[in-house]
Amino acid sequence: MTEIITAKNLTKAFGGRVAVDHIDLDVAAGEFYGFLGPNGAGKTTTIRMLTGIIEPDEGEVTVGGYASGNKASIARVIGVVPEGRGFYEWMTAAEYLEFFADLYGMKSDEKNERIDSLLEKVGLTERRNSRVGTYSRGMKQRLALARALVHNPKILFLDEPTLGLDPQGQEDIQRLLKNLNKEGVTIFLSSHLLNEVSNLCSRIVILHNGRIVANGKLTELQKETSLPNGSLTEIFLHLTHTL
Ligand SMILES: Nc1ncnc2c1ncn2[C@@H]1O[C@H](COP(=O)(O)OP(=O)(O)O)[C@@H](O)[C@H]1O
Ligand SMILES: [Mg+2]
Repeated sequence: MTEIITAKNLTKAFGGRVAVDHIDLDVAAGEFYGFLGPNGAGKTTTIRMLTGIIEPDEGEVTVGGYASGNKASIARVIGVVPEGRGFYEWMTAAEYLEFFADLYGMKSDEKNERIDSLLEKVGLTERRNSRVGTYSRGMKQRLALARALVHNPKILFLDEPTLGLDPQGQEDIQRLLKNLNKEGVTIFLSSHLLNEVSNLCSRIVILHNGRIVANGKLTELQKETSLPNGSLTEIFLHLTHTL
């Protein structure tokens, strides 16, 4: 197994309150990794440390084989759909993607081709010249995904990407993620939605109060919790409450 993301002893506190508490992570190349936890578990803090937005208090991270200090190299291999992002609402989808393609220094021909194919992939070709401010939440989220894919990253981090979307919007994002994973993209998906994680992810890690309380395939979690036929909901409740 080739590890594409690793973290050892990763720790972060805010004002003396520990948000992420000495966790170890290992994600294999090509994996669809489900990072599941209730609100406040520490998912966003973990993703922000893995993607270099904030520095851990303790611990070490590697992403794509690079140590966390090598931010430029990591930025080339990862795409991020962060939690609750804002948009440049006055831009059209095409302008928005072009803006980010320029940041990555893409040349004109390559850029136009890439933007066309991304808009097609996320189903926004028809609306490519409408302002983002006129989009539904689902469309905005599909655009956020396209933006994260502009430079063709091999690792994609998503922080609760379907939060606040209607069922169709959730389904659209989930289908896109499934296809990306089939194409070989490693996916690190944070979610508090049990169905989403159990439908998509080949491995499930449950975070609770900043600690990892489960890590494995559903069958392994069933064994560990002595709930042989337990659904992910039952397992999750068992591990995050005192059932
Ligand atoms: N910038 C911050 N300042 C202070 N506390 C924070 C900050 N970010 C997160 N926290 C706290 O850390 C804990 C974990 O938060 P977070 O990582 O956002 O969890 P999740 O994404 O799983 O909902 C929470 O108690 C939250 O209030
Ligand atoms: Mg969060």
